[in-house]
Amino acid sequence: MGSVIGYIGDKQAQPILLNCLAKLEYRGCDSCGIAVLGGSIELYKDAVRVKELAKVAPQLGGTMGIGHTRLATHGEPSQVNAHPHLDCHGTIAVVHNGIINNFRELKRQLISEGHNFVSETDTEVIPHLIEKYYRGNLEEAVEAAVRDVEGSYAIVVLRAGEPRLVAARKDSPLIIGIGDRENFIASDVPAILDYTDRVIYLEDGDVGVVTPDSIKIRRDGIEVDREEHKILWSVEEAQKAGYEHFMLKEIHEQPKVIRDTLGEYTQVTEPVVDLAVMRDRGLESMLMLACGTSYHAALIGKYIVEELLRTPVRVEIASEFSYYGQPLAGTAAIVITQSGETADALKAIKRLKGVECRVVAITNVVGSTASRIADQTIYTRAGPEISVAATKSFTAQLMVLYWLAMSYSKADARRLASLLMGLRQLPSKVQQVLDSEDIILECAKYLSRYEDVFFIGRGISFPVALEGALKLKETSYIHAEGYAAGELKHGPFALLGGDTPVIAIVARDNTYEAMLTDIKEVKARGSPVMALAEEGDEAIGELADLVITVPRVDAMFSPVVNVVALQLLAYYTAKQRGCPIDSPRNLAKSVTVE
Ligand code: G6P
Repeated sequence: MGSVIGYIGDKQAQPILLNCLAKLEYRGCDSCGIAVLGGSIELYKDAVRVKELAKVAPQLGGTMGIGHTRLATHGEPSQVNAHPHLDCHGTIAVVHNGIINNFRELKRQLISEGHNFVSETDTEVIPHLIEKYYRGNLEEAVEAAVRDVEGSYAIVVLRAGEPRLVAARKDSPLIIGIGDRENFIASDVPAILDYTDRVIYLEDGDVGVVTPDSIKIRRDGIEVDREEHKILWSVEEAQKAGYEHFMLKEIHEQPKVIRDTLGEYTQVTEPVVDLAVMRDRGLESMLMLACGTSYHAALIGKYIVEELLRTPVRVEIASEFSYYGQPLAGTAAIVITQSGETADALKAIKRLKGVECRVVAITNVVGSTASRIADQTIYTRAGPEISVAATKSFTAQLMVLYWLAMSYSKADARRLASLLMGLRQLPSKVQQVLDSEDIILECAKYLSRYEDVFFIGRGISFPVALEGALKLKETSYIHAEGYAAGELKHGPFALLGGDTPVIAIVARDNTYEAMLTDIKEVKARGSPVMALAEEGDEAIGELADLVITVPRVDAMFSPVVNVVALQLLAYYTAKQRGCPIDSPRNLAKSVTVE
């Protein structure tokens, strides 16, 4: 798993490849490498990150090349397992993102035919297959090679003596960037934004043949047209814009993201067609599927939809559903995925499609695989999210869920009018949270000394607790667990004590009194308590050791202000502990393998 890049043009390839790779590191990187074609293919790779590789790599002269950042799936991170991989004669170099399920059979067969392998990777079968099928035409050899492959791939191929790059994709994202006397191939748009804003999205089964001044896309050997898209994100938007980390920048973008996402939809007078059809049929239940932070958005969505639509919502982890889930007739399915490329989410969509469920995808990435295979896509307008830890995409997902639920709400007109007003005020409420960074920083300093933390909440604040714990563990490496507050006494009480702080998320809803009791019980067992509470809540002020105050909002919107506060808490705690905030160890932004 990882990211691929290709460059062909009139400039030296090496610095461009390394620059593009650095922009793709957020997708996960434990090793990386480049290959450049001069007289012959010259290659440099190692189990280091891009910055280190750039420091030590020799000058590889040539104006076309390929590159890769790897997050290990087959074989440990090492120089030999890093990409690019070569054929027997070092004349074909390949970078690959994805997983080849049948690589063991292919490898066995190729070895029996005399091919030599050096790595433990699945990828290495590809250059050998291309070598096997090469009869003087590179694209035909690539087409023949990928016909043998079962699994997912985005590949870029370089062959000595051939003035072109060949790319192919199946179930892994791949784009072509169009330049002036130069062209690019990449796993994702931010990689190439320094050079061009014109892209073509390859589709599954496409093979791209790219020279400095031509791009041809073939399917089954026949040339096809693919539309050119203009990327509206500025380079600056994809950069840190003066913030120390992408995560902090993305947290601060949330008032704008809320406005952009709501602006997109509140002006739409037509309801979302598929859901409208389902409602007219008498929508009986709704199924939401997602992974990671998007799963937590879905869990919050359950509370919102159940209250406003009075329709039961089932929320499933996509990786579980793809094996065991039984979609019920009359169920509307919503799959939430920021990247639109998470393998588990895509597999769940395919399972739903297999039983003829109609699927609505909520995604942030235009042209992503989820948007292509779902029946309908609702885009969040969060802009590119670079930090591995999801922040603004989560808030944008919640906005879509609020808007959807309010569009089909069975609540009375007064309640709806009040919710609509609350929704409009959210950007300024979130800004208030961002303005209280100083207090959160103090709480982070306190928290950074501990190694185990519980987050607790009830009702709509329970998934907030889950998300708070996820943010903290992934960024600061503190062991954190999110718990339904009422469940603490069924086991975790055994772990409470002076070394284990508890962070209580207290919403002003019907769970409030119970949460006060929970806090008292936790304190009685010696754990320090940090509470997130509404401004003016004196009772909490007296009970908790530390309080992060959030602005007053309707309890339905409390997850937004609370999660933003918890994102900042995680960020500053991680910073305090000196963690690599934007790309935590072992994690990837976009998990494109199962
Ligand atoms: C990875 C990311 C998480 C993200 C999850 C689901 O684990 O590190 O931040 O929440 O994937 O991603 P998706 O793109 O499907 O929302």
